[in-house]
Amino acid sequence: MKKFENIKIYKDKREHLYVQLYKEIKNLIIEGKLNKDEKLPPIRKLAQLLDINNVTVVKSYHILEEEGLVYKKIGSGTYISSDFITYISRNEQEKERVSSLSLIEQGQIQVKGNMINFASATPMAELFPVDDFKQVLNEVLDRDKGRAFDYQQSQGYLPLRKTLVEYIKGYNIITDIDNLQIISGAQQGIDIIAKALLNYGDTVIVESPSYTGAIASFKSRGAKIIDVNLLEDGIDLKNLEKKIQIFKPKFIYLMPNFQNPTGISYSINKKEEVIKLCKKYKVYIVEDDYLSDLNFYSRDNTTLKSLDLNNELVIYVKSFSKIFMPGLRLGFLVAPSIFYDNLIFAKHLSDISTSGLLQRALELYFSRGTWKEHIKYMEEKYKSGFDTMVGSVKKYMPPEVKYIYPKGGVNFWFKLPKEISLKHFYEQAINKNVAFAPGNLFFIHNHDDNHFRLSIASVNNDEIDKGISILSNIINNLINNKVEKEKIKNIYKPIL
Ligand SMILES: Cc1ncc(COP(=O)(O)O)c(C=O)c1O
Repeated sequence: MKKFENIKIYKDKREHLYVQLYKEIKNLIIEGKLNKDEKLPPIRKLAQLLDINNVTVVKSYHILEEEGLVYKKIGSGTYISSDFITYISRNEQEKERVSSLSLIEQGQIQVKGNMINFASATPMAELFPVDDFKQVLNEVLDRDKGRAFDYQQSQGYLPLRKTLVEYIKGYNIITDIDNLQIISGAQQGIDIIAKALLNYGDTVIVESPSYTGAIASFKSRGAKIIDVNLLEDGIDLKNLEKKIQIFKPKFIYLMPNFQNPTGISYSINKKEEVIKLCKKYKVYIVEDDYLSDLNFYSRDNTTLKSLDLNNELVIYVKSFSKIFMPGLRLGFLVAPSIFYDNLIFAKHLSDISTSGLLQRALELYFSRGTWKEHIKYMEEKYKSGFDTMVGSVKKYMPPEVKYIYPKGGVNFWFKLPKEISLKHFYEQAINKNVAFAPGNLFFIHNHDDNHFRLSIASVNNDEIDKGISILSNIINNLINNKVEKEKIKNIYKPIL
């Protein structure tokens, strides 16, 4: 009971008392002050100690249980979950490694200069259209002078919004200017959606695996994250329907074209079924379109937004980072009208507005038609890398490694044979100067240990071929070592 004496509950705070108590106990667990299988105080005693209602304690224990932090023994009480403790200590051990990997994933730390970098999904700086953009920037400065540096409307620079409304007609997305919001990159878009739509304890369904940046945003709002498996043609619909019925999510977060990390694209049939299902259960969809532009071997890169004919179901988030310049921090979202006010409010709180200078420059870049030329150029570059990747994987990758060829995009997703340790593979690859993204980063509990993602965005064709050859050699050696060890084990197998 002593450990609970310092818990502070403030009755004059707006936050519910049970949420305060839940957070206090969670902190005690995270700080290691409660041990695995330790019993929590009986409800009545803790309520008396803190001068609160029994129901408040019951509710907070309930949230802890839902999060897997504690478990109940009927007739005995509530105990600290051993699984959770194992999870924390494993995380502690791997904290440094995983956090540096997450940073690579976001393109935020430098992979050593001589490394072949399959980890980053960010395009190479050599491909950026610097001269063309310099020209439009100069023209904007001459034309708009100081106004280019004024605060911009939170919803975005009107001429740019008009231009984008026209542009996405080409992708069969028909929308009103009022429904289009400029954002400082898709990550901000996802974050303001989380702020505008989610309350503490709401559920969000995501694909498994999924994009870590989105999961982190939803978690930061106190949302419960539930995942649903991906199949070769998109999300597992049966499982999705079951989980929608059980968890009644606020929205589901999907990447239907060249999903990150798997590269999987939903079939058109599945896209239509997802829309039907969400309509039936009145669940919103957040569609993250970070890459549908790079469509090499399929005619279908239909977005869910284009199937949302009444603009009532899908919040569409568009990133330009993979096809343009990520450091510009520009993107846009298209949302149903009922979210209009909340989204503008959340955007205003986040950064007031996206840079007016850059919005004006992008508008000019679009209206000149330079954008279209650039996208064509990027498509050619990426397609060449994509084809090289497919060729090298066919040439070198051992048959024990499983994969599905995507039809476009920049990500390839592989499954190691069960007997190979992802950790060993990763360490050996780093020693041989090849970096990639281990699969566990993309799962909500980081539990996966035999997938990995290779991205072709930051590597040239020679590096792709050399890198795949190195990785394949490492895997072959790991497989052969395993086979040798098994043989030895069999020879010396004691007779029991
Ligand atoms: C699937 C996905 N969505 C969103 C983002 C964030 O994009 P932006 O740079 O536009 O914020 C990324 C970045 O890697 C991503 O992979």
